Amino acid sequence: MSASFSTFATSVKAETAFNVLAVAKGLIAHGKNVIELEIGDSPFDTPSNIVEAGINALRSGQTHYGPSLGIPDFRAAAAQYVNEEYGLSVAAENVVAGPGAKNFEQLFCEAFLNPGDGVLVFSPHFPTYGPNIERRGARPVLAALKHSHDFRPELADVERFLAEDPKPKAIFLNSPHNPTGGITLLEDLEGLANLVRGKDVAVFSDEPYDRMVWDGKHHSLLAQPDMLDQCVAGYTFSKSFSMSGWRLGFAVSNVKTTEMLGKLTNSCLSCVPPFTQIAGAEGLRNARAERDRQMAEFGKKVKLLVDALNKLDEVSCLMPGGSFYVFPAVAPICNRLGITSHGLAMYLLEGADDATGVACLGGECFGDAGAGFLRLSCAEPDDRLLEAVSFIASASQNADRVNAYLETHAEYRLASPYELD
Ligand SMILES: Cc1ncc(COP(=O)(O)O)c(C=O)c1O
Repeated sequence: MSASFSTFATSVKAETAFNVLAVAKGLIAHGKNVIELEIGDSPFDTPSNIVEAGINALRSGQTHYGPSLGIPDFRAAAAQYVNEEYGLSVAAENVVAGPGAKNFEQLFCEAFLNPGDGVLVFSPHFPTYGPNIERRGARPVLAALKHSHDFRPELADVERFLAEDPKPKAIFLNSPHNPTGGITLLEDLEGLANLVRGKDVAVFSDEPYDRMVWDGKHHSLLAQPDMLDQCVAGYTFSKSFSMSGWRLGFAVSNVKTTEMLGKLTNSCLSCVPPFTQIAGAEGLRNARAERDRQMAEFGKKVKLLVDALNKLDEVSCLMPGGSFYVFPAVAPICNRLGITSHGLAMYLLEGADDATGVACLGGECFGDAGAGFLRLSCAEPDDRLLEAVSFIASASQNADRVNAYLETHAEYRLASPYELD
């Protein structure tokens, strides 16, 4: 007999994108033409000078443990990068290396949360926030991001949380936002900083899409007065530098918090592999032109996909302010067909056609507030993006095929119609 798992482990729901990815890969292996818009990964290669720097580091013996906070040159390069890009004035000692940005959700929660603490999360939200908050016995407190407010966080929700929650301790912020593509504007950041300043409240500012802002520029909460003391901002190489498989990111905060995050890194990871940090430092210093070229390509794809989706009846899609996701409202289709939005996504992949499918996610994979939407990433060639939109248009007219799919997938039947915006 094997030992029973903890209540926490049993309750964890992993990112659905990885499950859909596995289904899509299985269908592709059996010869299906699947247009893959499910996973938030870059279709571009890691810039070649970064790859060379990583290989050279391995060849020159960088194959051992390094400091838990990160190697000094990486920390210095990251500090210089955020200073130049976001007008901060931080130093190497304000930076801690991590294996991507996701790990900092966990470390932030370990650093600041006690059981019973309240954590404000704007929803729909990145699915791993909940498990990382709950891992500490703390409570996610959800506030809906509204289509009608361009999916921007509303300060009234922050005020209410601070005034009414029995133990308000932290806020999760994510801009550009996954899954909606919404942007937290400078005025929102100023307002948020004014509300939390001087209180015993910490903010995790999740900024993986910092280089994918399509109109204007990215702003970090860290640039607001005093926020270095109350904010941990997480950055990653996964998206901007097309390095998701290298597992590299970093967090920026005040020295005390940075050292705490280093201690917590020590307790679970020991360190991030030095050769990846050497490669990352090369990217921060010498691959920004290639990064910008790739990001501009993404920007064009986002616009192409949004424009095509908006030509469909029953679909309306905001132009995202940032990120490579588009988040069309498909509630009228779901209501007509009696299928949930994730059911629609799975039907497009598995049920709509034997030879072709589109892989994407229902908005409810990011919390109930996402129901009635689809999340599509733009990491396919342009002609495939357009093919996906035509496929969605025709597949959503085939009620017989939807009904047949629902016969074997009753969990996707829509219990009551979605509200229309
Ligand atoms: C909002 C958000 N946070 C964190 C991550 C994690 O990125 P990584 O761990 O690859 O840096 C992602 C990746 O999709 C994301 O969308």
